[in-house]
Amino acid sequence: MAVPDTLSNRLTLPAIAAPMTSVSGPDLVIAACRNGVIGAFPTHNAATTRQLDAWLRDITAALNPDGTARIAPVAPNLVVHRTNDRLREDLDCLVRHGVELVITSVGSPQPVIAPLHAIGCRVFADVSSMAHVRRALDAGVDGLVLLTAGAGGQTGWANPFAFVRAVRPHFDGPIVLAGGVSDGASMLAAQVLGADLVYLGTRFIATTESSAGDDYRAALVESTLDDVRLSTRVGGIPASLLTAWLALDDESPPAIAAEGFQQDRLLRNRTAWSAGHSVAGVDAITSVDELVRTLTTQYELARNALAGFGRRPAADLISADANHGL
Ligand SMILES: Cc1cc2nc3c(=O)[nH]c(=O)nc-3n(C[C@H](O)[C@H](O)[C@H](O)COP(=O)(O)O)c2cc1C
Repeated sequence: MAVPDTLSNRLTLPAIAAPMTSVSGPDLVIAACRNGVIGAFPTHNAATTRQLDAWLRDITAALNPDGTARIAPVAPNLVVHRTNDRLREDLDCLVRHGVELVITSVGSPQPVIAPLHAIGCRVFADVSSMAHVRRALDAGVDGLVLLTAGAGGQTGWANPFAFVRAVRPHFDGPIVLAGGVSDGASMLAAQVLGADLVYLGTRFIATTESSAGDDYRAALVESTLDDVRLSTRVGGIPASLLTAWLALDDESPPAIAAEGFQQDRLLRNRTAWSAGHSVAGVDAITSVDELVRTLTTQYELARNALAGFGRRPAADLISADANHGL
């Protein structure tokens, strides 16, 4: 594993509860970390930098009051795009709290690397093309989050198989696969490809600890893969949205001509219902404890099935894999 032992030995699964606008707050982060999954959240989910400061204090008090607990890391997510007016203030706040892992999105991570490295913080950057990969590696990131086709939120377009295999020869550090991961089998598949960790976003929206509204969570359970549409309406760049929300919002879906990302536009559309193709794996609203238990069982089953490959008929592998309802 390219993830350092100091980090990986605090995880029960190779997974990050992905940062999600309007969805990830302290409750979700605390529940994920307690279950051995990295808990990420966008700093802009806190209404102000002052609230971000309070959230970080509360999260530390809940998870690791005396600094000795072996708990999965908390990973604040910074939107590094030039339209984020709060970038400098939020960055200073993360530095004051001595956070250990930051994930950057929408833009070059370059401006935040030096101040975060100075406090020993690792920086992972999300990327959706080989040009982004080169830019992030040149800036000195410690890890890459590969946004792939069908991911929830502001999605990627690259095929996950091709993207991981294209990046691995150029980078021996941590690679996180984002998009399409809804169960233990897909987690293991990502590792077989050469990724070290996966993002799970959509799957964590449908938990009792997420900040999503009841209607949104119910729509996730009802929706199928066919109910996910690409639209630039929310943040100005293509995002995966649920048809149920597009219908509620009562506007015809716009053409997919990107206008360019604008942070204020994203924040004005906080109520949008986004989900990735992984919505296919959401069949109930559960607690984070229960979700992680299910994922762990599925992951073990998939590992056993893979170990037995060649000795067992293919039909057995398929039935062992169909465990969404565990
Ligand atoms: C509702 C929603 C909001 C999101 N907001 C953010 C965000 O603020 N910052 C970010 O880096 N990614 C954001 N994402 C993308 C996720 O971090 C992640 O890449 C994606 O959910 C992975 O695909 P999956 O949903 O199929 O697991 C968001 C995704 C969703 C579904």
